[in-house]
Amino acid sequence: MKFKSIISAFALGLFATYGALKTIDAQAQSAKPWGPNWNDADELILPVGYREWVYLGSPLTPNGLNGGQAGFPEFHNVYIQPQAFSIYRETGVFPEGTIMLKELQLTIPGDEADGSRTEVSGRGFFPGEFNGIDISVKDTQRFPEGQGWGYFNFGHHAPPYAKTAAAAPVEACAQCHIDNADEDMVFSRFYAPLKK
Ligand code: HEC
Repeated sequence: MKFKSIISAFALGLFATYGALKTIDAQAQSAKPWGPNWNDADELILPVGYREWVYLGSPLTPNGLNGGQAGFPEFHNVYIQPQAFSIYRETGVFPEGTIMLKELQLTIPGDEADGSRTEVSGRGFFPGEFNGIDISVKDTQRFPEGQGWGYFNFGHHAPPYAKTAAAAPVEACAQCHIDNADEDMVFSRFYAPLKK
């Protein structure tokens, strides 16, 4: 009886140690427990659970309004990692490790020439299938040439998306944000929840 309980205490101890080590291992990958995770090749690992992050808004540039072929005809559903959002709300600054994620979502095929369709709520554009992911990460050490932000494309197609992505060249992504974004590389004018 006594021996048994010593054994189970020992097992419990081992289990607790294993749990603690696992946590340390997970945190070693990221400077912050909620920040981005990188693999050994310095590629960004696709975050999980992002559809539960803070939803900022969905710009829409449909084909019907862009000569029949928009670069991104989908809804651009933009999310921000929740801890980064809280810190931004408190300080007005995107903290190091902020992740902004844009998931593209096709419109349901239309029955009008402009690609719109009529549903019971009216005529318009309605969200359909998911179709790609773009991510930006604030890390001023890693991405000085992107004004402190790195840009990543995980595919412009239906899921499954790439599991990891290398940083895109500055001219492919960051440059347009440098030239046109509102605030610290982010197009915050479109994201009502960021407004002070
Ligand atoms: C020609 C300009 C341009 C280029 C090039 C560009 N973006 Fe953007 N990006 C925008 C605009 C404008 C928005 C906001 C409005 C929208 O989505 O239509 C945006 C929004 C984003 C957002 C949401 C957060 C934010 O900053 O507002 C992410 C993430 C993003 N882009 C990633 C990328 C990635 C990754 C690439 C390269 C593969 C890229 N962008 C290339 C113009 C650009």
